Amino acid sequence: MELTEAIKARHSVRKYADKPIETSKVAALRGDIEKCNAASGLNIQLVLDEPKAFSSGIWKYGQFSGVKNYLVMAGPKGWETEERIGYYGERLVLLAQTLGLNSCWVGLTYKKIPGTYTMREGDVVHCVIALGYGLTSGIQHPRKPAENFYECEGVPPEWFLAGVEAALLAPTAVNQQKFKFILHERDKVEAKPLFSMAGYTRTDLGIVKYHFEIGAGKDRFGWI
Ligand SMILES: Cc1cc2nc3c(=O)[nH]c(=O)nc-3n(C[C@H](O)[C@H](O)[C@H](O)COP(=O)(O)O)c2cc1C
Repeated sequence: MELTEAIKARHSVRKYADKPIETSKVAALRGDIEKCNAASGLNIQLVLDEPKAFSSGIWKYGQFSGVKNYLVMAGPKGWETEERIGYYGERLVLLAQTLGLNSCWVGLTYKKIPGTYTMREGDVVHCVIALGYGLTSGIQHPRKPAENFYECEGVPPEWFLAGVEAALLAPTAVNQQKFKFILHERDKVEAKPLFSMAGYTRTDLGIVKYHFEIGAGKDRFGWI
């Protein structure tokens, strides 16, 4: 499965089957986690066969069930890190989708289980991402017109629109979609977070930038 197809197939999945992730898929995920950490300075870790994060305390009766595998998205504090968490986390989400796995970003409804991951000095856990075999593949979130999400003088080029369309399929916290892409000159793109009471707009921005690059083609433009 290509990444462009993975973007269309991915939806948040909150209920999982009791089926372990195969060793070869774990190896593929771990291999890419290592690359993401090296490129970003993050401390992303894959936790396997650990049911407590989603089944204890006040989250016990939440909308999640069967979650035993998840990515711990750890790294330093700061908005630059938050954007990187989004960008590299979504890279892993789409890799998981190409491997036939489902996923869900989770900012709130999980519990940190000490001893299941390691933290470096100054690291915080920004969020986690549930992974596994979903009981369903999830559903498409409501679509909004692309025009609401970009600014550009004159007619936008095809690649730019394809980038915006790919970004609109991305997960964002509470589906808030608080972002805008602005085309400057002919090939410079600014990605702007908009205000939200719910927060997570920098993480969302990293996520939608990763989708935009896939939709538009990374060699067609540069970020400013
Ligand atoms: C940063 C972030 C945090 C999220 N936190 C939660 C969460 O705590 N609980 C939850 O059920 N879904 C959470 N989600 C999933 C969103 O609700 C979901 O992505 C959005 O509704 C769009 O749906 P889709 O992912 O199926 O396209 C989160 C998503 C993101 C990007």
